[in-house]
Amino acid sequence: MKILFVTPELAPWVKTGGLGDVAGALPAALRALGHDVRVLVPAYPAMSKSFPDAAEIARPQPLGGLLPTPVLKQAFAPDGMPLLLLDYPHYFDRPGNPYIGPEGRDWLDNHLRFGLLSRVAAWLGAESSTLDWQPDIVHCHDWQTGLAAAYLHYLPGRRAKCLFTLHNLAFQGLFDHASLFELGLPDAAWHIEGIEYYGYLSFLKAGLQYADAINTVSPGYAREIQTDEEGMGMAGLLRVHAGKLSGILNGIDSKAWNPATDRHLATNYGVRRLELKAANKSALQAELGLEQRADLPLLAVVSRLTEQKGLDLLLEVAPQVFALPAQLVVLGSGTPALEHECAALARQHRGQCAVTIGFDEALAHRIEAGADIFVMPSRFEPCGLNQMYSLRYGTPPVVRATGGLADTVVDAADPKHGNGFVFGPATAPALLQALRRATAAWRDPVLWRRLQQHGMARDSSWADAARHYAALYQRLTGSP
Ligand code: ADP
Ligand code: GLC
Repeated sequence: MKILFVTPELAPWVKTGGLGDVAGALPAALRALGHDVRVLVPAYPAMSKSFPDAAEIARPQPLGGLLPTPVLKQAFAPDGMPLLLLDYPHYFDRPGNPYIGPEGRDWLDNHLRFGLLSRVAAWLGAESSTLDWQPDIVHCHDWQTGLAAAYLHYLPGRRAKCLFTLHNLAFQGLFDHASLFELGLPDAAWHIEGIEYYGYLSFLKAGLQYADAINTVSPGYAREIQTDEEGMGMAGLLRVHAGKLSGILNGIDSKAWNPATDRHLATNYGVRRLELKAANKSALQAELGLEQRADLPLLAVVSRLTEQKGLDLLLEVAPQVFALPAQLVVLGSGTPALEHECAALARQHRGQCAVTIGFDEALAHRIEAGADIFVMPSRFEPCGLNQMYSLRYGTPPVVRATGGLADTVVDAADPKHGNGFVFGPATAPALLQALRRATAAWRDPVLWRRLQQHGMARDSSWADAARHYAALYQRLTGSP
């Protein structure tokens, strides 16, 4: 099958979270199954710099509304993956991350920037395309690409089927009514069964409403979002569309995240050479200015610092955590309030707590390897990749029982399969109790080794997920 994979982020070049990782790995896994996949992504500075020889292959037009005519360029990733770079410098040649300018605010024209991405995806998936490659499936991800489903719905003639993958229901891509015209969408789309959402235009709702199928990134999250408590205002709509909604658990890039070959680590190790992991702990302690204490459990967080991730709970119990005693390292960036609180914590507990504010891929790897225990107290978690990296790196995770965390982490109470620690309520006492259990278990070498082995033995590769996606594509196109 021919699949157009449409994404606003693509690891290793452009990544703000797990979506970038998924886009960097799933297409390759689909290609390995024999499918013809091309990845459409904006030509951000990091893309243009990495692929200076990308050749023009089309000028998609007319796109309607106030949308400009971009240039579509083709390049090839090192593994041979064809990349379609959406080049329109006025929109995409900007500093900062894909959504936010250097001063920390959303770009004011995000509806046009991601409207253009969505519109070009639909252009490629319909008869309008001038390429000699017509996708069977347009596979979209999150609100940034949700409008592609709406555009495809309103385009005449033969068109690809559309799969919309929901990575996070919290980001809904809400813009005012006037953007309907700017985006060249018909007035007919402005109703409750279209893309209108409480007086706003919602990119996310467009994806949910018009896609031929919707999936999210774990079976657990697929169930949760259909409840009023966790549906973030979309539960009713999702229940209506339950027949086209499924959950497919993410994999991880098992080449990039392999402790035996990870070039970011001080010392490589594997399940059979687990004793070598300790060298990564002391290297991390040295790097971050923590006391060299092999006798203290080292807890770690690598995360976006937002409400979703529940780090306020950890901050609340931090004094008790240090009294266990334990050390803590945090790598993250996000809301200014959480960034400041984390930084203040490190100042108050020098030697025991190290906080790095920023985005640092290499340090994230060294933390996964150097820490003893990984902490993810998320309020909700569609899938979560870090707990899977932690399992693979022999760093048992402490997670809240939600979404993909509950689907991947088995509590230590299960002697046959336990690989981490799971707690229920999103409260500071519940987290603290789980951390107490984890640090006590860490002091029991036999139990700890067993937890590590269970985690490291788990198959988190993309092969399985890719087969599920391929089956979904096949159902959509009716191909055998
Ligand atoms: P989400 O997509 O909700 O942020 P995931 O667990 O799915 O959560 O994926 C987060 C990804 O982003 C992981 O690869 C993680 O290592 C990475 N990451 C998050 N914050 C940072 C950071 N500050 N520095 C480096 N990597 C980070
Ligand atoms: C989102 C979710 C995260 C998930 C990632 C990749 O950002 O918050 O749980 O792992 O997407 O699907």
